[in-house]
Amino acid sequence: MGKIILTGDRPTGRLHIGHYVGSLRRRVELQNSGEFDKIYVMIADAQALTDNADNPEKVRQNIIEVALDYMSAGLDPEKSTLFIQSQVSELTELTFFYMNLVTVQRLQRNPTVKQEMQMRGFSDNDDDNKAGTPVGFFTYPISQAADITAFKATTVPVGEDQKPMLEQCREIVRKFNSTYGEVLVEPEIMLPDNAACLRLPGTDGKAKMSKSLGNCIYLSDSAEEVWAKVKGMFTDPGHLQVSDPGKVEGNTVFTYLDAFCRPEHFAMFREAFIGKKVSFEFNSLDEVKEQYRKGGLGDMMIKTFLNSVLNDTLEPIRKRRKELEQNIPYVYEVLKKGSNQARAVAAQTLKDVKDAMRINYFDDAELIAQQSEKFRE
Ligand code: TRP
Repeated sequence: MGKIILTGDRPTGRLHIGHYVGSLRRRVELQNSGEFDKIYVMIADAQALTDNADNPEKVRQNIIEVALDYMSAGLDPEKSTLFIQSQVSELTELTFFYMNLVTVQRLQRNPTVKQEMQMRGFSDNDDDNKAGTPVGFFTYPISQAADITAFKATTVPVGEDQKPMLEQCREIVRKFNSTYGEVLVEPEIMLPDNAACLRLPGTDGKAKMSKSLGNCIYLSDSAEEVWAKVKGMFTDPGHLQVSDPGKVEGNTVFTYLDAFCRPEHFAMFREAFIGKKVSFEFNSLDEVKEQYRKGGLGDMMIKTFLNSVLNDTLEPIRKRRKELEQNIPYVYEVLKKGSNQARAVAAQTLKDVKDAMRINYFDDAELIAQQSEKFRE
């Protein structure tokens, strides 16, 4: 059995650096490692519509944004299949069959669904004035299981918030296989191994980077935008003077450095100071942290360092995006080709599923023979 990746994102906005370190960077590495037989990366527009039914235009506009982010971050259509969820209608059919294998109560216990319902202000009782939960939204973990199993994915690289989705998917697989026979593959989640990447905080230090909180650095932000955001970042509120000792834990600038800094950044940054009044004499992040803890390292210095570290990663992405933006029809062509390929694969799984469930009436010559026999008697 091959090693197969399926993963994706909802097209509700441009992707930010939290998406990048949480999953996108890893996907590109896995793609280039050559260790996987197939890689599918899906733009989950149907899932995005489960809580944007009144705003399909938002989803429509963001499909191209996400596709541009994917390709400029290094997903290569020659190596990975990029596709749009709604264009693979087999996924909805699978969802409908899986729905019978999941209870309402189990969905209600799904921590991510719970939390997201709360975040969106969906009420679970009809008496108050708040809007109720759309059924499609409530059941999206089942549709996500269809996304994953349609491609017989073995590996799903996603952020930590998707853990309950993978758990639920695995349960559906086990239930399906024990009820109808071994057809589906139980996938493994792949989380970032760096703690800082598990859930990158927003620039304001809040637990999550999110568009609605206005605390994101986008992959497509200009160098000027990134610097303005980095300058405004939260550090240690007790670190007022350069000479004051500072806290590294919970200091968002250091969390971002943990997520983005690579060994070569130290020499690069040191050189930027040659001939200047101040200098930067560190060879590792541990040395920087030690100095900050002791005192004598200013917030402006660590922010300037972070800015150059971020831009070292973001500049090539920006450059590729600019090029791709000049050829939008090509990007749609990539998605169309990918969607057609994905459809062929999902159709095969759907056939296997229907065969196992014995809802293949017209393909089963034996059934007709048996029924003929039965009614003749
Ligand atoms: N739920 C994921 C998100 O919010 C998007 C998604 C949809 C997904 N289907 C998937 C991720 C299947 C991994 C596998 O980002």
